[in-house]
Amino acid sequence: MSLPKVYVGFAIWEAGLAVLRGNADFEVWEGEGTPPKDILFKKLADAEGFLVGNIKVDEELLSAAPKLKVVSNFGVGYDNIDVKAASRRGVCVTNTPGVLTEATADLSFSLVLASARRLMEANAFLRSGEWNIWNPEMMVGVDVFGATIGIVGLGQIGQAVARRARGFSMNILYSGNSRKPEAEAEFGAKYVALDELLRESDFVSLHCPLNEKTRELIGERELKSMKKTAILINAARGAVVDQKALFKACSEKWILGAGLDVFEKEPVPLDEPLLNLKNVTTLPHIGSASRASRDGMASCAASNLVFALQGRRPQNLLNPEVWKG
Ligand code: DGY
Repeated sequence: MSLPKVYVGFAIWEAGLAVLRGNADFEVWEGEGTPPKDILFKKLADAEGFLVGNIKVDEELLSAAPKLKVVSNFGVGYDNIDVKAASRRGVCVTNTPGVLTEATADLSFSLVLASARRLMEANAFLRSGEWNIWNPEMMVGVDVFGATIGIVGLGQIGQAVARRARGFSMNILYSGNSRKPEAEAEFGAKYVALDELLRESDFVSLHCPLNEKTRELIGERELKSMKKTAILINAARGAVVDQKALFKACSEKWILGAGLDVFEKEPVPLDEPLLNLKNVTTLPHIGSASRASRDGMASCAASNLVFALQGRRPQNLLNPEVWKG
């Protein structure tokens, strides 16, 4: 029996390959970054499965892939995929929740600590040779312990951040589409409207998905409503924040600063003005970049894909309406 043809759009490693071997006739893009459009579309012309990392899956791509049955996203966030368009064509879409929750929460909380205590700035200060005397005003930051954190989107990652915040005796506020009574009981978290969360929090940490409702959720008005001493953390998606407004907020000191793992455009162009601000900590989208998490994502994404091609319902199916089972 012939195996279904699969195209893997990035250099996936052993944890994913081990799942694909014997279950798919697969080809992997081994080049730098993502495959150029002409190569990608050629490869997808007869593919039944597409394992995708960081590639836009839209009408144009889907129409270049008429045999496609499943698009398996390597990542929990799937704003790169037009799920409605896939559903119209009966193509399953899957993602990788769960396996990256703790790593992403660790990174988000690192941004809280690094921004509050100015770690990147202090590191640069030391290495530049400016540290010539100990001065009590040197690199003074703000306290994390006992402060108030406002979590926007108390999903799996938001809750994992709340668990860490509890360890720092933080007061926890959250906003989102619905109340989470179990999380309220576990963390003593209080459900509030976004406006109240912004007004009351010392740290505002974003953990919502990017969609039509959350695009530029945090703009000029929202940033102006935050405390002057507050810090914005974004390890979700760059476009949840209006980046130009954030630059104004941080350079004109409407807020104390920001910690960012994500940007509207990635890789972030080096002329992005936010990169010049000392009160903005910046990272290259490494939220889920721990070994265990990345292995988990690779095997989860490959399993979702193989399951769908074998007619078994994948665990992380995002458009169940297409599943005929
Ligand atoms: C995710 O899983 O969404 C991470 O941000 C990696 O893209």
